[in-house]
Amino acid sequence: MSGKRTFAVAITGASGAIYAMRTMAALLERNCHLEVVISDYGKRLLHDELGDKASVNRLREYLVETYGDAAKQGTFDLLSNKDLGAAIASGSHDCEAMVIVPCSMKTLAGVAHGLSRNLVERAADVMLKEKRRLVIVPREAPMSLPQLKNMVLCAEAGAMILPAMPAFYQMPKTLDDLADFMAGKIVSALGFDHNLYPPWTGSVAP
Ligand SMILES: Cc1cc2nc3c(=O)[nH]c(=O)nc-3n(C[C@H](O)[C@H](O)[C@H](O)COP(=O)(O)O)c2cc1C
Repeated sequence: MSGKRTFAVAITGASGAIYAMRTMAALLERNCHLEVVISDYGKRLLHDELGDKASVNRLREYLVETYGDAAKQGTFDLLSNKDLGAAIASGSHDCEAMVIVPCSMKTLAGVAHGLSRNLVERAADVMLKEKRRLVIVPREAPMSLPQLKNMVLCAEAGAMILPAMPAFYQMPKTLDDLADFMAGKIVSALGFDHNLYPPWTGSVAP
């Protein structure tokens, strides 16, 4: 065991690859160990939204180039979504929480119905059955009634639904500001302090 706090990070095929990268960097900066699973469409969206430099075989380089040397502090393993024998597929593994960022409506449905068709869905199922923190960051617009009901099912099972909905009262200037806001919400949900966005003080900053 590394002695580091261990989290599962799943990246699926919804828009918002930048949220996934900023979240990974924020957890690595906090010296965490990450068990990372990226679905096939998650890989495609990483490439489509962030380009060649964010391809799966150079994620660490991308994170350090983009977010700085602090991202070197933690460690991560990249797991196959097909490997239902990976450690995070078992409740006996010491993974304390999981975030699915971004979460597609397909993966949301699989988690809501306990399908465990791949490692992302199985690891999420493990979090729910073990009563551990599962943060789901869904993105779709508009949403159908089945999609809304699937969020309710997950919330009823104990997951936190943290929609990919950055706020604008912090006066974001760049896409990175929006990603910081979402990553801040996520690391906060995982129990970390952060300064990814300024705390609300009761009025918009001048
Ligand atoms: C460019 C692109 C953008 C997509 N954006 C979304 C999205 O925002 N939300 C969503 O639920 N699905 C989106 N999809 C569809 C999913 O990728 C698709 O349903 C896929 O099967 C999800 O599989 P996964 O959950 O295993 O990653 C998008 C697909 C593409 C190609």
